[in-house]
Amino acid sequence: MTLLDDQHLDSPLSTAMRDGSKVEHEAAEGSVFMTELLAGRVAEAGYAAYLLRLRVVYDALESAGRAHHHDPLVGAVHDQDLERLAALDADLDHWAPGGDRSVDSPAADRYADRIRTAAAEWGGLYVAHHYTRYLGDLSGGQAIGRILDRDFDLGGRGIAFYAFASIPKPKPYKDAYRARLDALGTTPAEKARIVSEVQEAFRLNRALFAELGERLPEYAR
Ligand code: HEM
Repeated sequence: MTLLDDQHLDSPLSTAMRDGSKVEHEAAEGSVFMTELLAGRVAEAGYAAYLLRLRVVYDALESAGRAHHHDPLVGAVHDQDLERLAALDADLDHWAPGGDRSVDSPAADRYADRIRTAAAEWGGLYVAHHYTRYLGDLSGGQAIGRILDRDFDLGGRGIAFYAFASIPKPKPYKDAYRARLDALGTTPAEKARIVSEVQEAFRLNRALFAELGERLPEYAR
């Protein structure tokens, strides 16, 4: 969806972001790589390849968040309790012990570049990237972690990425996050820019899945 109807822009920002990215969310959920992963048909090397790409993305997201947290828009969402880089490294120690942490991934590089450019341009654009990753991790991500645990018989190991130690209950956290977004007083034009960047963030995630999807034969389990 690229055209925003007036209804979305009259809505509170968090509602506009969710409703304005519904189509993109469904498309990301339906990615072949995700479907195969959740069906238990992706081997360890494939999941490690996914984690390596997420590492590039979260490195950019979290560095930009720290660099811009005095910006009132960035400050509304920035929270060290969300940071995932250490969890990704811990998970990589499980899935690819001793492995190289660098990855040749044009899709992850493009995503990280976009985050850096967005953050430098305007705090609202950073908020769009922050929302797309962390609210996703606190939502569907929680179910994904449980499915992986079961499929790979992990006994809770290698899924630190989905565990937020300081956020025992995602629901009240997400409600408070949305309330902070809605209190920002963004204008309809600003909302339109933010929603459009959320859509772009979803596209970048799909491109990442598409890149992994191309290598599925290599990752079959
Ligand atoms: C198979 C993959 C996925 C599943 C099963 C899934 C599932 C869900 C579910 C059930 C919710 C609603 C939870 C709630 O109401 O609290 C949700 C919300 C969300 N998901 Fe996903 N999701 C998937 C992939 C993704 C991806 C790839 C992204 C983006 C990187 C993403 C971003 C989000 C966001 C931002 C929300 C919050 C929406 C809002 O309430 O504002 N999801 N997801």
